[in-house]
Amino acid sequence: MCGIAGYLGPRNAVETVFEQLKLLEYRGYDSAGIAFLQDGDIRILKRAGKLTELGKAVAEEMPEARLAIAHSRWATHGGPTDENAHPHYDQFQQVAIIHNGIIENYLELKERLAAEGHSFRSETDTEGAAHVIGREYEEGVPLEEAVRRAAGKLRGAYAFVVISKREPDKIVATRNASPLIVGLGEGEQFLASDIPALLPFTRRVVVVKEGEVAVLRREGVSLLDSAGKPAPIEPMEVQWDVAAAERGGYEHFMIKEIHEQPDVIRQCLLGRIDEAGRIRFENIFSDYVWTEIDRINIVACGTAYHAGLMGKHLFERLLRLPTDVFHSSEFRYGDPVLSEKSLAIFISQSGETADSLAALKLCQQRRIRTLGIVNVVGSSIARECDRTILTQAGPEISVASTKAYTAQVVVLSLLAFYLAQVREAPGVRVPEGVDELKRLSDMARAALALEEQVEPLSEKVAASPLVFFIGRAADAHVALEGALKLKEVAYIPTQESPAGEMKHGPLALVESGVVAIVGATDSKVRDKTVSNMMEIKARGGTLIALTTEDDETTCQVADHVLRLPKSRFDFFSALLSVIPMQLLAYHVARRRGCEIDQPRNLAKSVTVE
Ligand code: G6P
Repeated sequence: MCGIAGYLGPRNAVETVFEQLKLLEYRGYDSAGIAFLQDGDIRILKRAGKLTELGKAVAEEMPEARLAIAHSRWATHGGPTDENAHPHYDQFQQVAIIHNGIIENYLELKERLAAEGHSFRSETDTEGAAHVIGREYEEGVPLEEAVRRAAGKLRGAYAFVVISKREPDKIVATRNASPLIVGLGEGEQFLASDIPALLPFTRRVVVVKEGEVAVLRREGVSLLDSAGKPAPIEPMEVQWDVAAAERGGYEHFMIKEIHEQPDVIRQCLLGRIDEAGRIRFENIFSDYVWTEIDRINIVACGTAYHAGLMGKHLFERLLRLPTDVFHSSEFRYGDPVLSEKSLAIFISQSGETADSLAALKLCQQRRIRTLGIVNVVGSSIARECDRTILTQAGPEISVASTKAYTAQVVVLSLLAFYLAQVREAPGVRVPEGVDELKRLSDMARAALALEEQVEPLSEKVAASPLVFFIGRAADAHVALEGALKLKEVAYIPTQESPAGEMKHGPLALVESGVVAIVGATDSKVRDKTVSNMMEIKARGGTLIALTTEDDETTCQVADHVLRLPKSRFDFFSALLSVIPMQLLAYHVARRRGCEIDQPRNLAKSVTVE
């Protein structure tokens, strides 16, 4: 969630890192700061609040520098104040650092240093790390060595970047768990916590591996391993185009990303269905392994968790393969029972979610096979899993996830049909499934066309004190995601539950004026859902039903009906119903004047546990 930026080269370094920070705004933050070298000293400008505050300080001073580092902070240890904002100096103001993540043993370190006479200006764990580095640096070693030694004393998940006034020609950075990416230029180098902050400047990047120390000089970059020995540099070319990371004419990233979904579905299938209509994945487990797997555990957070529930639906219904879905935070501390032949699937847009990474480490310790379904290339989860399938959805900037969800469910669907293919699952119509997947992009386009009907409904939803989201089977899983969207971006309380559960409690909350969004795409359980709709209607609720174009029943009860394309697999119609729900959340948020792309209190990439 915090953002890191760094630059050294002929440009105005302060302006450059400020630009980079702007590109990282979507990660969520509550203060920001810059450190730069000027006249032999390190100068720091930092402000609580949005980047405009820091921008004012920069505009007042108009500093010129050739080397700068910058940070946007999302408060963890210590509130979002000027003092707690990064960068932080060491005791003697020889070095300055910025840091993402959390240093777990900072209190212990600070106490020890305080006993030696160190004084601290902030409440942060970061300042403790700055002092530890400064102390190592006093020994007269090069900055990279001081950073490497200090890293050995720090516990936690972190990435930090350090500059020194004694060595004004370099930026040094290291990481353990939190991401760090170097951008390679000609006579200039860049650093960032995330690829979008590099794209306007360079496409050649190096992902710093855990424990490595990167040393950036104008003329080039070198890496040291955790033992201090030179490590190989493996540059890669980022394919995302810059426009893909910008709004592209839409008012917000969220609506842009909702509209990208037909293309995302197509991209997601790219190279994965051969001419004979067979599904194939590159660099995935052997058929033997796929046949051996006796249980699947899906582990994820937030929207990715909801995608996981859709995966469970498919694996169990199509393959009769027992599947559990866990919130990553619960999985780690829940002492899960993991069978030797099980497969753990980690779903993550960012590939950096701390809870998911921690759960992944647990599976690694227990020697369980792991598969990542990840969007961000080169991210920690993508690299750490035994095998990874990329969702190929392109960068997702809006904090509320939309296209990543659809891509995750499409990958899970591909995987389910792939498993049916490999395991020759009885009764599964794989070619039909493949055909439906190929049609899905066009069907998503039809779902997007509902926007004209959804927008006026947003008025009623915006006025509802509580909004219900209900459904059965796959519709019940999509209901969870629809409710999450409305909460996240429009700040409206929701009650989401399987339709059949309403009478066991939530029905007590129904009164005149409340709105219920009902997923009724599954024809097999529709009659039951209609009964639940009547229970709500009888108590004064307004019903908005999401159903398929051929349904003649729901419209007899619902106040408003949104019709989706009918798929031969009900599951896909249910998946498509997430699109009008996303559109609804967006338009309600817009009507209420909410900060759509960066909802209050939330962050895109949650790199703390
Ligand atoms: C945050 C984001 C959500 C996301 C969740 C999991 O809460 O705001 O949109 O679903 O993290 O993130 P991941 O990157 O692991 O999918």
